[in-house]
Amino acid sequence: MARVLLVDDEENLRLALRTYLRKQGFEVVAAGDVDSALAECAKEAFDFVVTDVRMPGRSGLELLAELRAKHSATTVVVMSAYGSVDQALEAIRAGAYDYVAKPFKPEELGFVLRKAEEREALRRENRELRAALLDNHQFEELLGRSDPMKIVFNTVAKVAPFKTTVLITGESGTGKELVARAIHRRSPRATKGFVTINCGAIPEALLESELFGHKRGAFTDANQDKKGLFEEADGATLLLDEVGELPVSLQVKLLRVLQEGTFRRLGETQDRKCDVRVVAATLRDLNADVKTGRFREDLFYRLNVLTVNVPPLRERREDIPLLVDQFIQRYNSRLGTRVTGLDPQASKLVYDYNWPGNVRELENTIERAMVLADAPVLRPTDLPERLREPQDPVAAELARGDLSVKRTTRVIEEILIRRALEKTKGNRTRAAELLEISHRALLYKIKEYGIS
Ligand SMILES: Nc1ncnc2c1ncn2[C@@H]1O[C@H](COP(=O)(O)OP(=O)(O)OP(=O)(O)O)[C@@H](O)[C@H]1O
Ligand SMILES: [Mg+2]
Repeated sequence: MARVLLVDDEENLRLALRTYLRKQGFEVVAAGDVDSALAECAKEAFDFVVTDVRMPGRSGLELLAELRAKHSATTVVVMSAYGSVDQALEAIRAGAYDYVAKPFKPEELGFVLRKAEEREALRRENRELRAALLDNHQFEELLGRSDPMKIVFNTVAKVAPFKTTVLITGESGTGKELVARAIHRRSPRATKGFVTINCGAIPEALLESELFGHKRGAFTDANQDKKGLFEEADGATLLLDEVGELPVSLQVKLLRVLQEGTFRRLGETQDRKCDVRVVAATLRDLNADVKTGRFREDLFYRLNVLTVNVPPLRERREDIPLLVDQFIQRYNSRLGTRVTGLDPQASKLVYDYNWPGNVRELENTIERAMVLADAPVLRPTDLPERLREPQDPVAAELARGDLSVKRTTRVIEEILIRRALEKTKGNRTRAAELLEISHRALLYKIKEYGIS
C-alpha cells in the first residue's frame, strides 16, 4: 500500500482528500504545516507527499527542497492556488513530479497519484532488471562439470521454483553464496531483490533490529522507525549467511517468521506479515551445534527441509581447469591483460594443490599470478610459494579425498615410519620409541613397506 502524506493548512480540504484517498487504497497521514510534515517524514518514509504551496510559516516549496535533499525517493505533488501557474512550474523545476491546480476534484489528485505510482513501479522494475543483468556479469554462472557439482545443479534447478527454505552448507569459499544467487535467479522472484545479511558479522545487539526493524525509541539510538530486512525483502529472497552464528534468542524469532510469515519490529506489539523466501548458508556443522544446544533443533529441521552441500574443491578437481579458464577471462577483462593459460608445470601444481580456501583461493591465486606474470602463459614462478613447495605428504594424502581408512592409514603409517627413521638416522630401537610401537612391529612394517 502506497503511503501518502497530505500537507495543507486548510483542515476541510485535508479531511476530504484523506477520506477519498483512503477509499482509493492509499495509507494517508495528514499534516497542517511544513514542520509537522517533516517530523512525519523523519518517522517513516512516504511514497508520496502532496503539499499546498502557500501556508502560514514555511512554504510548500521549502518542504519540496528539504524532501529532495533528504528523502529523494519520495514523489512530491504540489497543489497550487488558482491562478498561480508560475508557482506550480517553479515547483516542477525544483523537482516536484506534477501539480494540481486548486480547486480540483479529489479524482484529479487520485489520477495523478496513480500515474506516479505506475511510473515508480516501472522505474523500480527497470532498476531491478538492470541490477539482475549486472548480477549476471558480476557473479558469472556457477561453473562445474564434476559429478558432485552436477548434483548441486540438479538440486538448485528443482528447488528454485518453490518457496521452500534451502540450507546451503560447505567449507569457506566453495561457492555457497553463488549457489544461493543461482536459486534466486531461477525462481519466480528473479526480478525482485536478493538481500543478504551475514549473521556472524553484525553485533548481536544490532542483529535483531537489522532483521526485523524497530520502532522509534525502542532503544537509545533508535531515532526513527526502521524497516528490517524481512520487510525490505518482502516478495524477494533473503540470504541468511552464517546462519549458525545466529544467537539463540533470534533463532526463536526466525523460526516464527519461517513458520507463520509474521514478525514484530523491536519495540512494537503488533505483528507484521511478510512474504520472503529464505535461503540460509553455513560452514558450521549445525547438526553438531544442535547436539551441544548452540542451535535450536526445531529451527534446524525447519531450515534443513532441503540441503545443498557444496563440496570442497579438492573433491572435484575436474572443475579446476574450467574455473581457471573462467578466472583468466574475468581478469583479462578487468586487468587488461592478455593471459592465455598456464604452462604444463603450473597446471599440474594448480591441479594437485589441495585448496583449503577452495574456489575463492583459486580465484585469488589466478588473479595474483596474472598480475605478476611477464608472459602470456603463467609459469610456476608466478604461483605462490605454497603451491610450489612440496606439500606435507600427510596433508597431501588426506587432500586426495580418498575416504578409505585402511588405505589412508597405511600410507600415513609409512610416511611416519620413514620420518622416524630419518630422525634417528636409522636407529630402529629409538624410532620404535618415537612411533610408540614395539620394536618387533617396526621391523615387520619396514619389511612390509619395503623401506630400506
Ligand atoms: N562454481 C563456481 N563457479 C564460478 N565461480 C565460483 C564458483 N564457486 C565459487 N566461485 C567464486 O568463488 C568466490 C567465492 O564464492 P562464494 O562467496 O559464493 O563462497 P562462500 O561459500 O559463500 O564462501 P564463505 O563461506 O567464505 O562465505 C566468488 O568469487 C565466486 O564467484
Ligand atoms: Mg559466503
